[in-house]
Amino acid sequence: MNISNSFIIASANQKGGVGKTTTTINLAQALALQKQRILVVDLDPQANATQGMGINLEAVKYSVADLIRERSLSTELALHQGEGIDLIPSSPLFWPLNEYCI
Ligand SMILES: Nc1ncnc2c1ncn2[C@@H]1O[C@H](COP(=O)(O)OP(=O)(O)O)[C@@H](O)[C@H]1O
Ligand SMILES: [Mg+2]
Repeated sequence: MNISNSFIIASANQKGGVGKTTTTINLAQALALQKQRILVVDLDPQANATQGMGINLEAVKYSVADLIRERSLSTELALHQGEGIDLIPSSPLFWPLNEYCI
């Protein structure tokens, strides 16, 4: 895969209920329909995007929090592959990680 053509879209706002999750899931789907390859990285401990993409949180063995906490872990461990949209899930079990994010 040629990552030089890749770009990152961040959906971030400290305020809740402003449409971050909804925008993320729908934008990912819209871009996937245009044959873009998508990786959604759910960095919200509420894990709504993870659940909204059909992942049962009890089935999440490795989350994005594990990748942040243990940098030697392979990203592949947390990767959920889908039809044009891959996901690095979040999980409420593995937060807070504020000390790792400074
Ligand atoms: N463009 C929109 N128009 C109307 N309602 C929306 C829109 N985007 C999101 N919502 C609704 O607003 C609420 C909060 O959206 P959500 O994506 O969960 O916000 P956040 O992730 O920022 O907390 C949900 O009920 C969602 O259905
Ligand atoms: Mg949300």
